[in-house]
Amino acid sequence: MPHSPLPVPDFLYGTAWKEDRTPSLTELALRMGFRAIDTANQRRHYFEEGVGQGLAAAYRAGLVTRDDLFLQTKFTYRPGQDHRLPYDPAASLSVQVAQSIASSLDHLGTDHVDSYVLHGPSSNHDWTDADIEVWEAMQKERDAGRARFLGVSNVSLRHLQQMATARAELPAFVQNRCYARLGWDRAVRLFCRERKIIYQGFSLLTANREVLHHPLIASLAANANATPAQIVFSFARTVGILPLTGTCDRAHMKQDLASRDLTLPLDAVHAIESLAG
Ligand SMILES: NC(=O)c1ccc[n+]([C@@H]2O[C@H](COP(=O)([O-])OP(=O)(O)OC[C@H]3O[C@@H](n4cnc5c(N)ncnc54)[C@H](OP(=O)(O)O)[C@@H]3O)[C@@H](O)[C@H]2O)c1
Repeated sequence: MPHSPLPVPDFLYGTAWKEDRTPSLTELALRMGFRAIDTANQRRHYFEEGVGQGLAAAYRAGLVTRDDLFLQTKFTYRPGQDHRLPYDPAASLSVQVAQSIASSLDHLGTDHVDSYVLHGPSSNHDWTDADIEVWEAMQKERDAGRARFLGVSNVSLRHLQQMATARAELPAFVQNRCYARLGWDRAVRLFCRERKIIYQGFSLLTANREVLHHPLIASLAANANATPAQIVFSFARTVGILPLTGTCDRAHMKQDLASRDLTLPLDAVHAIESLAG
């Protein structure tokens, strides 16, 4: 088990869907003040090698050092990948994990990541034998020093409860799409809160467009001289969600980070929490 304290960044910059712009946007995000980067060794949606190029450019420019950063990447099962695989699909799952993280470290130019995440369980319903094998392989990588902490993504409460029932080690991080209509993933967040798991929320803006246009959010934004997106990020942080943003826009990067300085009235936080579900 790691002895160092759990690092909790206050914002994650997400690098999905940026293709050739990945290096320059990663570098820009660091220049604008992000210190935590989320990626995946899944070429279908992420260009992890490009993230590494952006990091290298930032190091060269003297913007940051590796020690300033929280780097998170993921292991993705074969069905979530295209033909550009970071492992031998004929190998066992535990070998695939070892090959995938070795390739991630190579892409990112580092000897360890801060968080290594299972991109999604093998089944939407259950925590399966495949997940047990992968999760154990991830723990071996963590114990060997190639990852500081482990996480799971795209999980239901049922997956987490099954992990707990099987007495599996619980993750340090859960990363989920956060729908307002599901009480902002209330059930999973509650499970995480009770077990001191850090909940990371993605698609806070794109999955909740109706919220961004809601009169309550509009009036809070007007009162705080902020944008609706900033209100959502501020709300998220207040209820214990570590937010991700994948913005490609310099002004939005600045606004997203500035949301850390907003304080929302408690009654507004409660109202947003039950706005849509
Ligand atoms: N684990 C998973 O399966 C999974 C799945 C999806 C995503 N993720 C991670 O989460 C990251 C973020 O994904 P996401 O779905 O939350 O975001 P996203 O798809 O990258 O979209 C963010 C959207 O919000 C807009 N935006 C951001 N800040 C804004 C602001 N201040 N004002 C107005 N619009 C703003 C962006 O537009 P502009 O570009 O114009 O700012 C963009 O349209 C991904 O890059 C990835 O790292 C993980």
